[in-house]
Amino acid sequence: MEFVDLDLGSFYRVLAPRPTILVTTMNKKGEVNAAPFSFTMPVSMDPPLIAVASVASHHTYHNLEETGEMVVNIPSERILQKLWVTGEKFPQGVNELEKAGLTQMQSVQVSPPWIKECIAHMECKIEQIMECGDHQLVVGRVLKLGVQEDTLKDGLLDVELMKPLLHLGGMDFVVGDHRIKVEK
Ligand SMILES: Cc1cc2nc3c(=O)[nH]c(=O)nc-3n(C[C@H](O)[C@H](O)[C@H](O)COP(=O)(O)O)c2cc1C
Repeated sequence: MEFVDLDLGSFYRVLAPRPTILVTTMNKKGEVNAAPFSFTMPVSMDPPLIAVASVASHHTYHNLEETGEMVVNIPSERILQKLWVTGEKFPQGVNELEKAGLTQMQSVQVSPPWIKECIAHMECKIEQIMECGDHQLVVGRVLKLGVQEDTLKDGLLDVELMKPLLHLGGMDFVVGDHRIKVEK
């Protein structure tokens, strides 16, 4: 087996496929924004903290700085085409959920809405923002977690049923639709 050097800027392309999320935020005027992100990870279990890395020019980031709240929605294969629409560049104040034909649902503890067609919804308050290279690292505390019925099987995501979307890069995704187990 031969190994070759790859351009360093491609490092995240081999850290793939990455869980894909749809982040909903609101600005001070109450306008809703939604965008897909794949630079994301859990960073603490207790308290429950999740990190998202956003380019500073994104409306999402502007809203996060302005109102300090987000909902992390977990999409499935079923809404891939709609998710792609939310990732297009729209003028500030345009609600990408309306453009994509996705449905808003009232959150319980924060202002930005849940996306009904998603598997799970994490309502978050922003706790920390850190400049991180060409992205801003935003850490949110999960205040409420709502999931579709039957989301978990044996305490783990039922991937066969939920078919979560993983981002490979560009327009390419992977569907996480089967589980394998380590053999003893
Ligand atoms: C699958 C996917 C994953 C993305 N992941 C990120 C990400 O992790 N961070 C980021 O800043 N932009 C990411 N983007 C780009 C933004 O979603 C895109 O630029 C969007 O238009 C930003 O919207 P906004 O300005 O309304 O926030 C991703 C796009 C796609 C399609």
